[in-house]
Amino acid sequence: MARIAVVTGGTRGIGAAISKQLKADGCTVAAIYAGNDEAAKNFNLETGIAVFKCDVSSYDASAATLKTIEAELGPIDILVNNAGITRDAMFHKMSPQHWQEVMNTNLNSLFNMSQPIWGGMRDRGFGRIICISSINGQKGQMGQTNYSAAKAGEIGFVKSLAQEGAAKGITVNAICPGYIGTEMVKAIPEKVLNERILPLIPVGRLGEPEEIARCVSFLAADNAGFITGATLSANGGQYMV
Ligand code: CAA
Repeated sequence: MARIAVVTGGTRGIGAAISKQLKADGCTVAAIYAGNDEAAKNFNLETGIAVFKCDVSSYDASAATLKTIEAELGPIDILVNNAGITRDAMFHKMSPQHWQEVMNTNLNSLFNMSQPIWGGMRDRGFGRIICISSINGQKGQMGQTNYSAAKAGEIGFVKSLAQEGAAKGITVNAICPGYIGTEMVKAIPEKVLNERILPLIPVGRLGEPEEIARCVSFLAADNAGFITGATLSANGGQYMV
């Protein structure tokens, strides 16, 4: 039977590549998106992957959407917590709103999406939860105290939940992408990207979304059951832990 996979932020950027990869791996995929209806519609037409609109920063909305997905597709086996936003600003210019929005979407969403389906995974004795953290959660980044804190928090979440899931056949892992050529990275001021970031990447280029999707595919596989609580870095050699 095909595994049922949910990918948050699954219709654009890294998430779109993950949704497509999991479909190619034989999963039935549900891609969750926050607001860009047009991108989601086009993604659905292009790939045939079901799309669901949901604000993952809300527990109630997340729980309701997960219920709908399970009613339509079946019990969820694989969850990829990929949705994320940036509100970059130097700390002295950062507003409480910049801080809260990033915490709610990037970190609180892990609870909102994982908790409602955790009991089912425990009962069935199988689950894969994969959180897309970031190189900047590992090393910190000027202009990103909010984002780096949330992304580092994801790693703590993964290491704790992995211990709870281990005896129940559920693995929980983090992937830390470096700078990947998506809209998020292209929004960085060009001068900063070219002069301050690209020279730090030994591979000499931005990563491709498909290079992160490949990591997800590896961790989501049925025969990846011995890998849990891990942090898989894919950053072109920019930061080695
Ligand atoms: N590394 C090193 N230096 C940096 C830097 C960086 N990433 N970002 C900014 N600086 C430097 C600037 O070059 C500048 O230095 P100079 O005065 O010597 O020129 C100084 O810091 C101030 O920068 P700005 O003039 O740009 O100041 P600002 O207040 O207008 O903007 C900022 C600050 C919002 C942090 C902006 O510089 C910025 O967006 N920087 C990029 C931050 C970043 O790396 N974000 C990652 C987004 S992608 C992502 O998050 C995905 C992922 O997981 C990797």
